Amino acid sequence: MTSTSLKHTTVLLDEAVDALLGGAGPEPAGTWVDGTFGRGGHSRLILLRLGPGGRLVAFDKDPEAIAEATRITDARFSIRHEGFRHLADLPAGSAAGVLMDLGVSSPQIDSPGRGFSFRFDGPLDMRMDTTRGESVADWLATAEVGQIAEVIRDYGEERFAGPIAKAIVARREERGPLATTAELADLVAGAVKTREPGQNPATRTFQALRIFINAELEELQQALEASLSVLQPGGRLVVISFHSLEDRIVKQFIAKHSKEVFDRRAPFAKPQAMKLVALDRIKPSAAEVEANPRARSAIMRVAERTATV
Ligand SMILES: C[S@@+](CC[C@H](N)C(=O)[O-])C[C@H]1O[C@@H](n2cnc3c(N)ncnc32)[C@H](O)[C@@H]1O
Repeated sequence: MTSTSLKHTTVLLDEAVDALLGGAGPEPAGTWVDGTFGRGGHSRLILLRLGPGGRLVAFDKDPEAIAEATRITDARFSIRHEGFRHLADLPAGSAAGVLMDLGVSSPQIDSPGRGFSFRFDGPLDMRMDTTRGESVADWLATAEVGQIAEVIRDYGEERFAGPIAKAIVARREERGPLATTAELADLVAGAVKTREPGQNPATRTFQALRIFINAELEELQQALEASLSVLQPGGRLVVISFHSLEDRIVKQFIAKHSKEVFDRRAPFAKPQAMKLVALDRIKPSAAEVEANPRARSAIMRVAERTATV
């Protein structure tokens, strides 16, 4: 099955678009950003709600998402085949709102050829952007054991990161590098001693390698920083995350910029003004999780750009 024929059920569709456009009046104008086009669930609803003077700039790293986006003929819409950190290229203060729905889309996970899932056998790739960069197989073929263990521990919070890394390197030396998802999943199953109930032993390792190979957390941090300069006063930042490492970054970023910053070397100087107001933290309803189990770990955070003085 090709991933172009697979569907993505958008998570928190109405909630995210309501939060994004919430501060604007009817028929919003201005430039809006969807950092993660995917299959365009959020983008299409945003376009439906924008007025004739509105425009939507979307980003995605995945060429298949870009192919889907080119089917949208609305002149108010444009798509960029780039990581969302490139929202920094938009003029300062030009965006009325920024949305990011992080992580992978269902077509990516459900397509064996993309190598994201231990549920199917396929090439060990996991790149969102298949037109550039190194695949997981390429990286595991030469990385040092310490680096592999660090990635699996830090991004997978995997207790058995050390034994898994050693098993990967031993296998590489004995029989050549890992090439497929099934080879990695089997090897991890052999190295993980105690299993978490209801979870495949390779879950944490696959998550870790995916986050690493796509530089997901670094790019998220860069995009959040960029949003501060790109958002106009009153503009909303809406971020949906799917695991605790992402959510922690978003939460800490909003908390950091939601208070005045005092310079301890200049105690009587005016403090640096806060740049964000935290507005909301929303989880999918029980009905949404029942209809779409992939929504179960989603957390959406909403903040508003202040007018800095
Ligand atoms: C959860 S899906 C988004 C689904 C979308 N909101 C929808 O309703 O169809 C995440 C998408 O973001 C893309 N993506 C993830 N990280 C990205 C990044 N740093 N820059 C650009 N796109 C990214 C992935 O390729 C994937 O297509």
